[in-house]
Amino acid sequence: MNELLEIKNLSVTYDGKIAVKNVNLKLELGKFHVIMGPNGGGKTTLIRAIAGLIPYSGKVSVNGTDMKKYRKSHSIGYLAQRGSQFYDMPLSAIEVVEMGRYRFKEKSNERRKNALRFLEEVDMISRADYPIGDMSGGQQQRVLIARALATESKIMLMDEPLTGMDPKSQSNFYEMIEKIKKKHGLTIIMSSHDIGFTTAYAENVFCINRELVPHNEVVKLLNEPEVVKMYGPNFRLTKHYHLHSEENDV
Ligand SMILES: Nc1ncnc2c1ncn2[C@@H]1O[C@H](COP(=O)(O)OP(=O)(O)OP(=O)(O)O)[C@@H](O)[C@H]1O
Ligand SMILES: [Mg+2]
Repeated sequence: MNELLEIKNLSVTYDGKIAVKNVNLKLELGKFHVIMGPNGGGKTTLIRAIAGLIPYSGKVSVNGTDMKKYRKSHSIGYLAQRGSQFYDMPLSAIEVVEMGRYRFKEKSNERRKNALRFLEEVDMISRADYPIGDMSGGQQQRVLIARALATESKIMLMDEPLTGMDPKSQSNFYEMIEKIKKKHGLTIIMSSHDIGFTTAYAENVFCINRELVPHNEVVKLLNEPEVVKMYGPNFRLTKHYHLHSEENDV
């Protein structure tokens, strides 16, 4: 049987208003999953619920272990949606990554050595001592990914990390994600508005608009000639779930 991150009947309510309703999902561990959906559709809410950052009803489990218990012995990597980070703080890239190592209680030289290793993985070693506040959005994202890697999380949640990136940076970003995913056996759950590159790299795409968007078909058309002809070799359609929903409001 495949190893799963399972979401059962997950709902989130803000001030009595339902933002995410009755989501049921089985996400294979070790895969790259993408959440799509309109603004206000509930992507951030779902990601924050999985990360355990907001209260929810329902259940999230990893291989049958409740997420609340799982988090006691495992870190979950989380990259917040742009705009909510602490870029104004006077921190260098290496200091940000070192924060990810604090729970390991290493000596400072050991911590720095490890942090440099993770900065290298995201191609940011040359900027180790550069203030994070003075970096471009894409560079900041890389540093934050290095920080998440430094925590040795196996599950990485990323909320629209591609926002504001030009196509080349997006492509580079995906290449880097693929590399670290493979190397560390990561499960990646990422939200995105991009239907171009995402479909080339994601192994599973699902859409949310308060509820999961219902769809009866599972599509997997890798390297389909027409699609490649239209969008180039990096564009493929991928397995795309729209699951059960009571109200079809999309
Ligand atoms: N802290 C909050 N308090 C009250 N309502 C909230 C809060 N956060 C989100 N909401 C509401 O919940 C719904 C889902 O918001 P969410 O941020 O999860 O959507 P999203 O899919 O991430 O949108 P975007 O693409 O714009 O990032 C929206 O109606 C939003 O107004
Ligand atoms: Mg959001």
